[in-house]
Amino acid sequence: MDSYGNNEGDALRLPHEGRAVQAGEIPPVPCESTEGRDRAITSGCVGFTAEEADVVRRVIQTRRSTRFGYSKQKVSRKDLLDIVEAGVYAPSGANLQTCRFLIIDKPSDVQRIAKYRVSWPYITKVPKGGIIKYAPALICVFSDTRIEMRSWSRHNGGVWEQLAPQDAAAAIENMLLMAHAKNMGACWVSAYQNMALTSCLSGWTWGDVLKGHNVPPHFIIQGMIMLGYHAEPWRGEVKHQGKPVKRRPVNEYVIGGST
Ligand SMILES: Cc1cc2nc3c(=O)[nH]c(=O)nc-3n(C[C@H](O)[C@H](O)[C@H](O)COP(=O)(O)O)c2cc1C
Repeated sequence: MDSYGNNEGDALRLPHEGRAVQAGEIPPVPCESTEGRDRAITSGCVGFTAEEADVVRRVIQTRRSTRFGYSKQKVSRKDLLDIVEAGVYAPSGANLQTCRFLIIDKPSDVQRIAKYRVSWPYITKVPKGGIIKYAPALICVFSDTRIEMRSWSRHNGGVWEQLAPQDAAAAIENMLLMAHAKNMGACWVSAYQNMALTSCLSGWTWGDVLKGHNVPPHFIIQGMIMLGYHAEPWRGEVKHQGKPVKRRPVNEYVIGGST
């Protein structure tokens, strides 16, 4: 079996290629030469300086979930697209690029959604109506189920269903980091298809919540982010549920590896 879980002799036809991939062959990347990628290559950023690595570390370590304190200022289309672009560049299983993004930045639309999406159940002290109502914009992340790996799933027990949420998670984290790098606030907001079965969605379906946004029926919601500019210069001090948000030393999270 190869690293993609295909048995020897299997021929797979990947939807983005239209041709059979032989077992053992790593599927080629469907790489259109996008402007962003070209820019990265021609500007020669294939190697990074230690200072640049430190900037990335700083962006990663200082990012915090912003739930309140947003300015009412409309988020520019450029910022929204830069952030979505960061999501598009996230890795995805077999590079199938399953994620699709819905931008919602009309205040009345955000407020309408805020009325449905109540709160995450572990939070006891949420303001009525949850946190979405504070955000100037939302980006909903979906999996396009037409980009499917059913041929793989059939052989390998539901590969698509397992990988699609991971694709979305990678995209969401990239977007949170890009928003933070642009000095914006953002917060991951739970959203998943069967949330309607929980109190988090007040008994409504995503079809009700996103009515009027022309979400194709074959898109499955995987998560969303709320985002916007900070009302005040952001100092990086965040409390969640009354406690400061921090991480323990790295070695407490690690097992294995040699010293
Ligand atoms: C899968 C996932 C779902 C989340 N859903 C919510 C949510 O619905 N509401 C919320 O306020 N925060 C949500 N968060 C944000 C976490 O609460 C937050 O990342 C965590 O408390 C750590 O804080 P930090 O992001 O400030 O480092 C979610 C995070 C993840 C990864």
